[in-house]
Amino acid sequence: MSRPARAIINLSNLRHNLQVAKSLSPKSKTVAVVKANGYGHGLKEVALALDSDADALAVACIEEALEIKATGVKSPIIILEGYFDESEIEVAVTNDFCLVLSRLDSVESILKMKLKGKLTLWLKVETGMHRSGMSADDFNKAYSKLIKSELINRDIVVVTHFACADELDNPMTTKQIAEFTLLTSHLNVQQSLANSAALLAWPASHAHWNRPGYMLYGVSPFKQKHINTKNLLPVMTLKSAITSIKSIKRGNSVGYGSIWTAGRDSTIATIAIGYGDGYPRNARSGTPVLVNGERVPLVGRVSMGVIIVDITDFKNIIVGDEVILWGDGLSISEVASYADTVGYELLAGMPARVPRIYQDS
Ligand SMILES: Cc1ncc(COP(=O)(O)O)c(C=O)c1O
Repeated sequence: MSRPARAIINLSNLRHNLQVAKSLSPKSKTVAVVKANGYGHGLKEVALALDSDADALAVACIEEALEIKATGVKSPIIILEGYFDESEIEVAVTNDFCLVLSRLDSVESILKMKLKGKLTLWLKVETGMHRSGMSADDFNKAYSKLIKSELINRDIVVVTHFACADELDNPMTTKQIAEFTLLTSHLNVQQSLANSAALLAWPASHAHWNRPGYMLYGVSPFKQKHINTKNLLPVMTLKSAITSIKSIKRGNSVGYGSIWTAGRDSTIATIAIGYGDGYPRNARSGTPVLVNGERVPLVGRVSMGVIIVDITDFKNIIVGDEVILWGDGLSISEVASYADTVGYELLAGMPARVPRIYQDS
């Protein structure tokens, strides 16, 4: 038997979640965000699965764009981080990739180039996140230069990104929408604001193009329940199996650092999963793990390839039983909360060593 750690990727759930995203804003076009290896699910597989239903696919960089182009996807490909090196601009022209530009000097550099064809550009504006995006002044300069240029396809889309849309009572999102409206409403341009959280909970942000990522993978970006997330289905289920069971005495400690000590005579089990498989090393004792559908507690420190659970109260568990670390029946957000992180980080950090098993039912 091979090592049982594996990530089951349900592509029909992925497509279902895209339909949920589209149904929330039926008049908009939907950019499916597949960067960071399709949020850990596998870039090519995710891109191919979403290609026919998405209006565009978004990646972070030219390497990811070329990788999905090579699969034969037909959707337009948007590169959210623009270019890092000027040599990428001609590659974007040749392959018809759309670059999102966040700086006036990038626009000016492009306008000085002799390109072999026209370039499609989206412009990102600053509305409050202060990470990337042009100031109002720079945006106005960039826009007026671009609309006069022959090098550029005219359908410029103006983009912004939200800092706090996952916080349902944070006024920042409304402020950012107002700022965006101020910057763009006098122009005849298409607009794109919403990430998953905004698409789910901030209808005023819905525009010509929405850009959901996280929700497509079936995870809610919110800490609290939200009605619009109830139909999302998890796409990745991380599985493994019980590999050994043993009894320990009260007072015995387990694992590296001996950070958990049995308060009673206990039965513990090992599971073939660890931080080398993307399971977070700082998951606390008590983090739930599903064994035969029951939530058993993690105990002790997560090792590179092994975790330990306390099964004293669960009599029917045997070696070989299947374990779910997150996904179907156990939300990745809950597991992440025990490790002081978010599901985004766990998904995007999934290492190659975990085989992805694709299902399409
Ligand atoms: C510019 C941009 N748009 C959209 C997204 C998708 O965000 P989410 O995964 O929260 O839906 C991201 C992801 O970080 C992004 O950087």
